[in-house]
Order: sequence, then structure tokens, then C-alpha cells
Amino acid sequence: MKEWTLEERYRVLQSPEDIRDLYGRIRESKYRQLYHVQPVTGLSSDPNGFVCHEGTWHLYYQWCPWGAVHGLKYWYHVSSPDLVHWTNEGVGLRPDTVYDNKGTHSGSAISKDGKMYLFYTGNHRDENWIRTPYTCAAVTEDGKDPRKLPEPLFGPRAGYSEHQRDPKILWNAEREKYYIFIGAQTEDGKGTALVYESDELLGGWSFAGELRIRGIESLGGMWECPYIVRIGGKDLLLFSPQYTKLPGRGESTNHNVYFTGRMDYDSMTFEADGPFRFLDYGFDFYAAQGAQREGRADEAVLIAWIGLPDNHYPTAEEEWEGSMTLPRILTIKDGRLYQNPVQEMASLRGEEAQADDLPAACEILADFDGKDASIALFAKKDGTGGLTFRYDAEKQELTADRSGMDIRFNEKIFENVQIPLDTPLRSMRIFADRSSVEVFINDGEETFTTHLYPTEEERRLVCSEGTACRIFHVCPSVKDDFVI
Ligand code: FRU
Repeated sequence: MKEWTLEERYRVLQSPEDIRDLYGRIRESKYRQLYHVQPVTGLSSDPNGFVCHEGTWHLYYQWCPWGAVHGLKYWYHVSSPDLVHWTNEGVGLRPDTVYDNKGTHSGSAISKDGKMYLFYTGNHRDENWIRTPYTCAAVTEDGKDPRKLPEPLFGPRAGYSEHQRDPKILWNAEREKYYIFIGAQTEDGKGTALVYESDELLGGWSFAGELRIRGIESLGGMWECPYIVRIGGKDLLLFSPQYTKLPGRGESTNHNVYFTGRMDYDSMTFEADGPFRFLDYGFDFYAAQGAQREGRADEAVLIAWIGLPDNHYPTAEEEWEGSMTLPRILTIKDGRLYQNPVQEMASLRGEEAQADDLPAACEILADFDGKDASIALFAKKDGTGGLTFRYDAEKQELTADRSGMDIRFNEKIFENVQIPLDTPLRSMRIFADRSSVEVFINDGEETFTTHLYPTEEERRLVCSEGTACRIFHVCPSVKDDFVI
């Protein structure tokens, strides 16, 4: 893989011409997604500023234009009328002030009175490469050309490390206040979040306290990308703890977890209903953030990065990598979180396909009879290999394994996982695109997301007896235009 110098990673984009050739090359890749948002060039990572504004969905992603490398980060803007058809809109935020000279890092958005307010981390570094993170804001009417405030809303809080970033903005109607949650690290290296409050969006911010989660003493070394939302009267808190290994997650040190419960803003304590749960069991899922439609307080829409911070993927050779997940609907029933693809996905369903000729972009509906079962996606002609799922009825556990694929990657981190189920396996709804697979298990009780790079020889779906599978083509829905 290419070795990048610091200079190359932090090069400033001067003109679209700087990357036109790169765009021309990568769009030929057979792994370019057909119905997932992906980087126009280079690398995409966290979803940012996801919001429904005046009937249109806006999403930005962390973008490094130059290749499959984490360097100078921009916000790249895409929009959609319906959460499935997406259009490239061009650069959203650029690192062009002293406060964000080494990157416009992650953040969130809120829509109010015809305007979108973007909150992001200005990643400042001085000549000795010492980092100072600033919480900054910008305003736009239509998502394009956001106008940055001349000064940050606030700087880093003393008593914590340089890791303070990823502002999540929210309005709390009961308390008639805005809050910002910031992912942070204590000076002794523990993950946490800092909460700020204000009566207005663009000023008046003061520190309200450090977030505590009842029952959690310590969970990882940094909580990236905190997100909190009220769904049907329950609070859902999620974040991406890093710098720690967690049970069942191989050698990975990056995770995405959630708690349900109640956020008490007086004591700044999240009264969790129970221990943390994994938001997704797959190998490549991180930095999720959500948005809500007006008038739909009973659900939220979640989107995440298909990828992990320390990993690289086979398309790095082609000078690009990364993808967003499909947007998923989050609901909470009887205190339990469910995640399902947005209903609009049904509009992309095409003709039925055959198990020995699996389309690169397809939806698979699999029904199980509760007994031991297995299913292999993108197996070889002779039925061997593929991404396999094996269900052990006695343990009520599903094992996912991608080590049977011809193109293997990040093998040392993990290639197989156990997914414990709360109820016996009934169904899997699977979405495969050219370089990703997402699985919704038992109507959204658990999910599994991975990158996957099938070859020409890997085109078969193999299901065990007692498993009923139907396969459908999925129509392309994401434009891959060169808009910078
Ligand atoms: C998570 C993250 C964020 C940060 C951004 C930089 O992947 O590390 O904490 O804001 O990526 O690209």
C-alpha cells in the first residue's frame, strides 16, 4: 500500500482539477457502490450533519480527497428527497481558518426557521503539531456554502486531554435549552462526554457537566461521535468507544455501543436500563449518527460509516475507500431497540434473481424454521467459501464468518463473530451492494455490517434445508457525479 507523507495527507484542495483524474480512475472500479453513499474521491469516514431540513435530507461525510488515507478532512455534502436517492452536492465545510487548519472534523446539524446550523470540530494544530480542538458553527439555508462563525463557540475544556470533539447538538423542549454533547477523554485516559448548554444556537454556551452513565465506571479511552435522541419517550445514547478491546470483538479497538434509559440533565447522569449493547455486530461499522423527521418522535433515522478508524480496505489500492450504511429506522419497543432499513428501500426492489447468479446489488429475504441453519453469500460455483452465517439453535447464536472469501482483509483484527440472539432465528433481510453487506436479523433485533469484495467467481447463494430464500435485484439510486 502507498506510504503517505504528512505533506501529502494534509495537502489543501485548491481546485477540482486536482482530483479530476483520480475521480476518472476510481469510478471504473467494480467495487463502486450502486445504492450507498460513497466518497466522490479518496476516503469517506464518519457521517456528519445528518438532518432533515425543509423536507430534504442532508448528509455530509468526513472526506479526505487524496486517497485511502486519513489526512486533512473536509465535510462533503450529499442530499436526498427520500433517504434512498442521493445526489452529490460538493464540498460542505473546508478547513480554511486558523481554528480548523488541520481539518473540519465531525459534528452534527439542526434545522430551525429555514436555516441549517452545523456544529463541527475545528482541528487546529500548531507548528509543533500540538492539537487544540475548537467547537465551531456554520449556517446555511440549503446545505451549500455554509457561512462559518468568525470565532469558535468554545475551546477545549481544561482538565481533559486534547481528545474533545464531535459536537452533537440537540434541543430539549422540556428544559427549553440547547445542549451539545462532546466526545472526550479524561486526563487519565478514560472515555467520557462533556455537556454544554445554551438558550441560543450561536452563542451563550456554558459547561453543564461531565456525562455519567449509571453503572459504567470505565468504557474505552475516548468516546467518539456521541449521539443522543429521545425515541417514543425513551432516551437512546450511543457513541464509539475506542482504545479498548471488548468481549467477542477480536482484536478490534474501535466499537459502536448504545444504552437505552433516561437522561437526567440535573445530575448529568444517563440512567441506563442495563449494560451497553453493540449497535451492530459486523466488522465494519462506526461513528453512527441519527436524525429525526419532524413530527416523528417515535423513531429516528441512523446512518454510520462502513469502516473502522485503524483499518484499510482492498480498494485502497485503487486510491479510495469507505461507504455509508443504508439509513436505518430506529424504534424502541418494550425498552428494546430495533433497527430496520427505511421503508423507502422497497422502492428500489427490482426483478427476482437466481441463487446461482447472485447480482452484485441485491436484497435477500431469508426465513428460517428455528432449527440449526446456514447460509453462504457469494460462495463459489461449487458451493464452497463465501460470507457464511451459521445458526446454532441450542445456543441461540449466529456466527458470521468472512474468512471464506477470496479477497481477505483485516484478518488480524477479526474475520468471524458470534451474534447472540434474544429470540430464535426467524429471518434475515440482507442488502448486498458491490462492496458491502448489511443484515437485519429478526426484524431488526440485531444487525451486522461488513465490507465485502466478491470476485467474478463468487456469485452463489447457498442455503441449508429449512431455509427459504428470495433474491431481488436492487436498482441503483446513488449518483456518482463529479461535483466538487
Ligand atoms: C471518528 C473520528 C472523529 C473525528 C473524525 C476525524 O472516526 O476520529 O472523532 O472527528 O473521525 O475524521
